[in-house]
Amino acid sequence: MMPKSTVEQIKERFDNSVERFSNSDSGNTAQMDSVMSMTLIAEAAALATPQAKSVLDVGCGGGNYVLKLLEYSPALDVTLLDLSQPMLERARDRVQQAGAGTITLLQGDIREADIGQEKYDILVASAVLHHLREDAEWEAVFAKLYQALKSGGSLWIYDLIEQSIPELNATMHRLHGDYLVQHQDAAFRDTVFGWIEMEDSPRPLMYQLDLMRSVGFRTVDVLHKHSRFAAFGGVK
Ligand SMILES: C[S@@+](CC[C@H](N)C(=O)[O-])C[C@H]1O[C@@H](n2cnc3c(N)ncnc32)[C@H](O)[C@@H]1O
Repeated sequence: MMPKSTVEQIKERFDNSVERFSNSDSGNTAQMDSVMSMTLIAEAAALATPQAKSVLDVGCGGGNYVLKLLEYSPALDVTLLDLSQPMLERARDRVQQAGAGTITLLQGDIREADIGQEKYDILVASAVLHHLREDAEWEAVFAKLYQALKSGGSLWIYDLIEQSIPELNATMHRLHGDYLVQHQDAAFRDTVFGWIEMEDSPRPLMYQLDLMRSVGFRTVDVLHKHSRFAAFGGVK
């Protein structure tokens, strides 16, 4: 098996993908139900955390998630965290125009970044945590996200996942492949599958829900699951 991409290689690819992650209407077309999941998460965050004043978007890309959140929870103070400075700048410009409160940019790797303690009402992490590798990294990052939330705050994740029963993965990969061919063509499917092979090390939905409970979330819930993608979250 080829070694997975380094953080630097991942950063470089995303530095050159700003346009692809800056369209709220199409969302991330490599992923199934990405626009629906974004809307579900924005609505769920507003319902679970109705008095929210602040949000941290981990792996914000071009800012699609915060733009959607602002439709349901207006004037939030926004902190954007990403490996890629060009992504952060695009997200800042779009979020500024949408009428956010204060905007703070954090350039870095979520594994290393200082995101503080009891600081945010809402956290979102879309299509980013699948870059974590060993279990120890998953455990440390989930604990860090929990600590960064205020009591009563909520964390929302949309991501590529594996199945808990490994024998089921081939079926889910096939469904994802069928979607990519239908959405674009077989070449797009092969490109996206190549990125996943090189860059991603996703974990099952059940693994992540258990991890959320074990780091302290008092309730966890699933908003949507389709093939290799799930939207889910929890309240501190
Ligand atoms: C697939 S894009 C998703 C962007 C956005 N969340 C969305 O759903 O539209 C992943 C983003 O996460 C960033 N990223 C990848 N690994 C990261 C890490 N370890 N820490 C912080 N950001 C990371 C990338 O630079 C990229 O902008």
